[in-house]
Amino acid sequence: MKNDVNNQWVLAKRPVGMVKTTDFEQVESQIGEAKDGEITVKVTHIAFEPAMRGWINEGDSYVKGVEIGEVMRAQSVGEVIESKNDAYKEGDVVSGFFGWQEFSTLEPSASMFPIQVLPEGVSPEMALSVLGITGLTAWGGMLEIGKPQEGDTVVVSGAAGATGNIAGQIAKIKGCRVIGIAGGPEKCQWLIDELGFDGAVDYKSENVSERLKELCPDGINIFFDNVGGKILEAALDNIATNARVVICGGIVGYNEEELPPGPRNYMQLVLTSSTMEGFLLGQFGPKLGQAAMELGQWVGEGKLKFTVDVQEGFDNVPQTFLRLFEGKNLGKQLCKVA
Ligand SMILES: NC(=O)c1ccc[n+]([C@@H]2O[C@H](COP(=O)([O-])OP(=O)(O)OC[C@H]3O[C@@H](n4cnc5c(N)ncnc54)[C@H](OP(=O)(O)O)[C@@H]3O)[C@@H](O)[C@H]2O)c1
Repeated sequence: MKNDVNNQWVLAKRPVGMVKTTDFEQVESQIGEAKDGEITVKVTHIAFEPAMRGWINEGDSYVKGVEIGEVMRAQSVGEVIESKNDAYKEGDVVSGFFGWQEFSTLEPSASMFPIQVLPEGVSPEMALSVLGITGLTAWGGMLEIGKPQEGDTVVVSGAAGATGNIAGQIAKIKGCRVIGIAGGPEKCQWLIDELGFDGAVDYKSENVSERLKELCPDGINIFFDNVGGKILEAALDNIATNARVVICGGIVGYNEEELPPGPRNYMQLVLTSSTMEGFLLGQFGPKLGQAAMELGQWVGEGKLKFTVDVQEGFDNVPQTFLRLFEGKNLGKQLCKVA
């Protein structure tokens, strides 16, 4: 294994505007040899998040930025092929932040994010979707911030994506009426037919504010927003009294060099005595174990479906990342690399 090639995708330059595949470069290095306390992982599945676009901007944000020439950071799953750490053995399937590379040699306790052995019955796809960053985010944002009550009308944007589809299904489990906003008729039909949403709005072909007025005649009690911009404004036009506007993300601005002003109608929060609250997954820290258990239980009971969109091949990793911004993914975007 020593001297064998480890293919890696590193950040070649800081993107300007929309991220491009040429902002990354494929390089070869050697597979590391695990020293005392370290493990070597052969990466099999890489997960993609829109937030990664922020990690490659100049400077640090809520996490340290990725440097030029550094392996692109990403949550992933792989198999331990060498272990000099008693907590892990060869053959263990583990999740962690191993990055856009075929092999990662690291000291688990020094890792920025915990490295967990997948329990029996948990597939890499499940670990990286409903039990990964996006599933946990949906759980925290919907239950801890949105606080759904039975009978509430809940609207989710980015509803056919990884976080949105789980957030909407959680609201259904809690007895809410759920409307999704997504791009294109196929995604909208999928939300209704496959996930049991009560309605869907195709923001690419419909007037979102008018459709929400029709679909939510008594107003929106919870708006779970992954998008921002005009979609946030359309939802604010239709909030009920004491609504909770949960700001999970704002993908509409992630590739913009300059952000437009907005939301123009934030006074709606005043007129309806509503709140708008953002959050980061990390703030739910002590509750994430409970969150994973609850999500896993709902999946086991058939109440919660998880959907993954799996592309293949290490060479396709940057293109797979771009799919998030092109709206090509349905559910969680992954790439199987081994
Ligand atoms: N707060 C946190 O701790 C936290 C943690 C994780 C994720 N997030 C946020 O959650 C959101 C969803 O992330 P995800 O990983 O689940 O991604 P995702 O929803 O699976 O993928 C992104 C989706 O966004 C939509 N989209 C892309 N560009 C758009 C645009 N310009 N306008 C409107 N929609 C656009 C596309 O769907 P359509 O085809 O429907 O357009 C695309 O499929 C992101 O904003 C992310 O940053 C927040």
